[in-house]
Amino acid sequence: MNYIDENELAEVLDLVGKRSNARIRTTLPARISSFDKDTQTATVVLAVQSYRWDVDLEEPVAYQPEPIARCPVYFPTGGGYTLRFPLEKGDDCLVLVAERSIDEWAATGEATNIPRDLRRFDLSDAIVLPGLHPTARAVADFDDDKLRLGKEDASGMVEIDDNGDVVVTGSSSVKLGSSSASQAVLKGDAWMSEFLTAFNAHTHPDPSSGTTGTPSTPLTEATNFPNSKSTKVKTE
Ligand SMILES: [Fe+2]
Repeated sequence: MNYIDENELAEVLDLVGKRSNARIRTTLPARISSFDKDTQTATVVLAVQSYRWDVDLEEPVAYQPEPIARCPVYFPTGGGYTLRFPLEKGDDCLVLVAERSIDEWAATGEATNIPRDLRRFDLSDAIVLPGLHPTARAVADFDDDKLRLGKEDASGMVEIDDNGDVVVTGSSSVKLGSSSASQAVLKGDAWMSEFLTAFNAHTHPDPSSGTTGTPSTPLTEATNFPNSKSTKVKTE
C-alpha cells in the first residue's frame, strides 16, 4: 500500500488552491478606453496588472490583461428616473466581475436567465461602476456639507446645501425650460427700484403750457407691488 506523505499532500493542496484562486476574478480598478452611449457599455483596461507563473524563470511575472469589451456600465436608475452622464477615455472606474455569465441577462433583459456557459468569475462578465477615483486623482473642490451635481471643474452645478437651499450655477448662463431659452429674467429688486425711480420722476406735456409735475402720489413697492417679487427664487 502507498501512503501519501502529509507534507507532500499539504503542498499539493496548497498549489491546487492557489491555481484555482488564480482563475477567480472579483474586482479591480480600471480605466475606460471607450464608451458606447447607445448600449451603455464600455471597453475598459484594468489598472492593476495580474501575475502568472513563468515556468522558465520559476517566478511570478506581472502582465497586463487584455482590455475587457462590452461591459455593462452601472448608472443609478429606478422608479422611472435615471442619472445620465457621458464617459470618456481615461475615466477611472471600478470593475466588478459577476460570478456567472451575464451575456444572457444583458441580451434578453428578462427577470431570470439561464447562463449557457458554465464559466465563473470570468473577466468577460465584468460590470463597470464609474466614479472610483484613485487617491492621486481625487476630485478637486470637494465639499463635505452639500450635494453637488455637475461638472468636475465646478463650472456648472446644481447644489443642495445644509439649509435645503438649491443653488444652480453656470459658467456663462443658467437656462430654464430648455437649452435654447433666450429671454432674460428680470432682476426683481433692481427692476423695481429702476421702475419706481423712472415712474415717479416722469412728467407729461401740459396742455396749457410747459410740462406737468411728477405724479402727485408716487408709487411704492409696498403699496403698489406688494406681491410681485419672488421670496424663494433669487438671482445675482
Ligand atoms: Fe403719467
